Parts: sequence; C-alpha cells; structure tokens
Amino acid sequence: MSSSSPTPASDESIEHAAKLLAAGKLVAVPTETVYGLGADATAADAVRAIFQAKGRPANNPLILHVASAQAALPWINVFDSSGKPIDWLLHQWELASTFWPGPLTVVVPKSPAVIDAVTAGAATVAIRVPNHPVMLALLNKCDFPIAAPSANPSNYVSPTRAQHVQSALGDKVAMILDGGPCRCGLESTIIRLRPEGVELLRPGAVSLEQLEAVFGSVTQSQATSPDPGNSDADDSTAKAMPAPGMLRKHYSPRKPMVTLDAFDPRRFPGQRFGRIAFAPLADAEASNYVWMQVLSDSGNLTEVASQLYGALRDADESLCDVIVIDTCPRNGLGRAIMDRIDRACS
Ligand code: TXA
Ligand code: MG
Repeated sequence: MSSSSPTPASDESIEHAAKLLAAGKLVAVPTETVYGLGADATAADAVRAIFQAKGRPANNPLILHVASAQAALPWINVFDSSGKPIDWLLHQWELASTFWPGPLTVVVPKSPAVIDAVTAGAATVAIRVPNHPVMLALLNKCDFPIAAPSANPSNYVSPTRAQHVQSALGDKVAMILDGGPCRCGLESTIIRLRPEGVELLRPGAVSLEQLEAVFGSVTQSQATSPDPGNSDADDSTAKAMPAPGMLRKHYSPRKPMVTLDAFDPRRFPGQRFGRIAFAPLADAEASNYVWMQVLSDSGNLTEVASQLYGALRDADESLCDVIVIDTCPRNGLGRAIMDRIDRACS
C-alpha cells in the first residue's frame, strides 16, 4: 500500500472513512486523547490487521469505540447466569457513562457478540465513547463499533497529530482522517467495574479525584501501577495480568530521558542535552541546552498534557542526545502526566 497522507475531515471524507472501515480496511481516526488505528470491531481479519500493523502482541486487547452508552449495550453483559440484571454493575455503568463522551474507558463483562480478536479471549471488554466531533460523526455512520488502539507502532509514543500517524504507519492504513491536534494528548483513563468497587487501571485526563467524586472510593490497581500507560508491551507475564497490556513498558522516545530532579550532567559526559520545560525558562538556565521546547506559557497542566507527546517526538528529531524533562505534583491531571513521564524515563 502506498503511504497515506492525512485527509482533512469533511462530510465526504468521513463518509469515505466509514466505507473503508466497512470494507475491512484500517483507518487512522482522531479522538480527543490520541489518534487511534481503527477497524470494524466485528470483522476478525480487520482486527487482526491492527495487531499486525502495530506489531502488537495478540494477547493485548483493544478498546471498542461506540457513539453513546446506549450503543454499547449490545457489546456488554450486565446479566447473571440466570438472566437477572446485576445491580452493582448496572449502577457503576450508569455512573461511568456520566463521563461520556469523554476520555474514560470502562472495562466490563463482554457480551458474546464481541469477537475474541478484540478482547484477546478475555471475558471483559474495554468500551469508550470518545469526545471528538469527527470520531462521533464517523461512529454514527458505521453500523459496528470501531476497535482502535493508539495509532503508533508498539512501544513508541502515541500520536497526537495526524502527521504523527503518517510518519510511522502511513503505509499500513487506507486513510488517515485528520481531525486536528488531539485536545487531551494522553490516552484515556481506564477503569474496571467490580462488585467490590471501581479500580483504576490507567490514569488519564479523567482524574482519580473526579472518579472518586462520582464512585466514592476507587482502588488503584496494584498489578498495573508499574505500567498502566502504554499498552503495547510484550511481557511474558501478560497472561497472568488482569489488564494484559498494562505492564511495565515505556512510551519511550528513542533517546534517553531523565527528569530534571534526577538529572546529573556528570553522568552523561560529552552528551548534548535537550530540555522539555512545562513553563518558560530564564535565559541562564536555557543556555545549558542545545534544544528546548516549552509546553505551556503559564505551566498550565492541560496544555502540558496536550503538548507532551509531540515534544517527545520533536526531541527525538532534535540535536540533543539526552532529554531532560520537568515534573509536576502527582495529583489531578499531574498523576497521568507523571505516569507517562516515568514510563518514558524508565
Ligand atoms: O485514549 C485511548 O484510550 C486511545 C484512543 C485511541 O481511544 N486508545 C488506546 O488504546 O490508548 P491502547 O490499545 O493503546 O490502550 C488500551 C489499553 C491497553 O493497555 C489494553 O491492554 C487495555 O486498554 N485493555 C483493553 N481491553 C481490556 C480489557 N478487557 N481488560 C483490561 N484492559 C484492557
Ligand atoms: Mg497504546
């Protein structure tokens, strides 16, 4: 396949994307978090092509994207073995759906309609209603959910612009639907619904504090706290994990990266340093770096999150040998930002 360049979203291009998906092709799709590598979630061959294009281990399940909580109902199972609705599950589902459309993914028992290629054989399925007008318009034109992981090769940084998809996967997709830069810039928050209460599997733009305000107490997953973020890790312990993809893995840039508070230039003799700063630096400090990118004029964390992955990619393309990056307190959106930075540094 020749390399696809981004197609600006319009009524016609969205219609065309829907046709390509219905024909079993891969289409890169915009969401408010990151770009996804989408396929018809009911077509096993198309779903398998996602794994192949990304180089993603087959035991790492995909998120089903749907247009509304209502549209998710055929794909989840809220009944017990005697056919009675499960009260705790329905209650948590209703609370979770108050965050939709939005950057929250919910892991729930799956209905038999969800094919194994999507869930990697798991009894649960991850569901999200994305909050992006182009993606919602596309979902409304499709009579199937769109299965989509982040549209990056396994183990690299997720794409937050259509051009990011083009550079690595342009020859693997039939179309890149360009919906502009992603507003959030970090992958969705993932929670699992359980009788004993909600569990946070991956921090994201919906913060732990926001979840607690709606669900009461929320457990932070022990199994996944070493990883949450990326999903593309190939790890031999994967089968034993509750969230197979959520293992220690880095959304790493190719260059080494260290946080400013752990940075000791003497450890890197003769190396050139680049800096990713959350807010503007004084000239004296800036002069220590051969390359620099400032993520926000005011240190605003929403801006920092939206610019972070683009900066990691730019740092990889820059003159520097080692990337030095700022840190922030680990609460609110800062928890997700630091989660991704920790992974990229490890
Ligand atoms: O923001 C996002 O979530 C983006 C956009 C495109 O929606 N998607 C995304 O997908 O980040 P991906 O595949 O890169 O990350 C999804 C994560 C993986 O860690 C995967 O293991 C986990 O969700 N996951 C999927 N299904 C699951 C399930 N049934 N149980 C537990 N974890 C699951
Ligand atoms: Mg991913």
